[in-house]
Amino acid sequence: MFNVDKIRADFPILNREVHGKKLVYFDNGATSQTPQVVIDAIVDYYSNYNANIHRGVHTLSQEATDKYEEARLKIQNHFNAKHSYEVILTAGTTNSINIVASGFSSILKEGDEIIVSALEHHSNIVPWQMLCEKTGAVLKVIPMSEDGSLRMDVYHELLNSKTKLVFCNHVSNALGIINPIEEIIHAAHKFEAYVLIDGAQAVPHIKPDVQELDVDFYVASAHKMCGPTGVGVLYGKEELLKMLPPYQGGGEMIETVTFEKTTYAGLPHKFEAGTPNICGGIAFGAAIDYMNSIGFDAIAKQENELLAYGTQELEKIEGLKIYGTTNKASVISFNLEEIHPYDVGSILDKLGVAVRTGHHCAQPIMNFYSIPGTVRASFAFYNTKEEIDILVAAVKKAKMMLS
Ligand code: ALA
Repeated sequence: MFNVDKIRADFPILNREVHGKKLVYFDNGATSQTPQVVIDAIVDYYSNYNANIHRGVHTLSQEATDKYEEARLKIQNHFNAKHSYEVILTAGTTNSINIVASGFSSILKEGDEIIVSALEHHSNIVPWQMLCEKTGAVLKVIPMSEDGSLRMDVYHELLNSKTKLVFCNHVSNALGIINPIEEIIHAAHKFEAYVLIDGAQAVPHIKPDVQELDVDFYVASAHKMCGPTGVGVLYGKEELLKMLPPYQGGGEMIETVTFEKTTYAGLPHKFEAGTPNICGGIAFGAAIDYMNSIGFDAIAKQENELLAYGTQELEKIEGLKIYGTTNKASVISFNLEEIHPYDVGSILDKLGVAVRTGHHCAQPIMNFYSIPGTVRASFAFYNTKEEIDILVAAVKKAKMMLS
């Protein structure tokens, strides 16, 4: 049984006050909050078995290695990867994308085409632009519609035999739109193009099955799903990870080193040079356990109710416009008349309500709507309707003060 009060008790930070008001945390799209079990996993690591992994014969090192590899198995199971070595632990989504983009710089040729969606975060645009600069490949864009959905008719027209790669987020961070990734992947594969899905904003809401999706690469960050910052995942199909060259040289990613020639380690170590975020990886595993103990059906139900209620109540405010109005995860991006989002966000903060304001690292979306940015309220399963009432009252107050 889903009991939001019981769940809220798992998150110590939800008890704090901001400017003398009870915190209402609606910036989950930027980072989720951390439950006590994940905090405990971090404290346990540094208190009891802090050691480098894969390197020592001593007990602490072996314990740390076992826990880290156990976390990799949890991630493998969560995403339903076929093999644990298809799970590369990275510093986060941006790092994961750059590993793939950099790898393709030795594979793409001048005139090859790459398709990205208009809804991307800068982290899923800039690495591909850099790749195009290096290789002479051409970047094409799937445009968006007024309601925030992708123009899938144009996508199908863009695909051709020159298309080598397609990149799209599973859920748009700025608007919350859930993209039709099954269709995107299936259509790209007909042209033998590879697809990378940025799941950063999807993983707090949806449990992706990479085998069922038949996706080539799926990337995400732990901190969006109750884990710590600075750790994430790059899932890639075995044959593709084998095809790509290593991203960084260093310890851990080698088999043998001589001054004449170095040979690289197999997967996943080939992409894991240097001492990783050991504690972060272990805590990522704890976060996955925690979210699965609540269950993604229960999470989706709670968040959909919050999204519907929040949309209904915010829409009652005259002059408030919501951007992105179709098939969404629990994100409401809005503006209040011509008032700058930063001003609205600052007043909300004084009233205890944490939201993100600005372009959300998605300037092309803001350019499409000809706005400088939005106020973004992003809900998690531990939020409540009562908190939405506080948001709505705060937005009304901001409107009164700023109009
Ligand atoms: N990508 C994060 C966000 O959307 C930081 O806020």
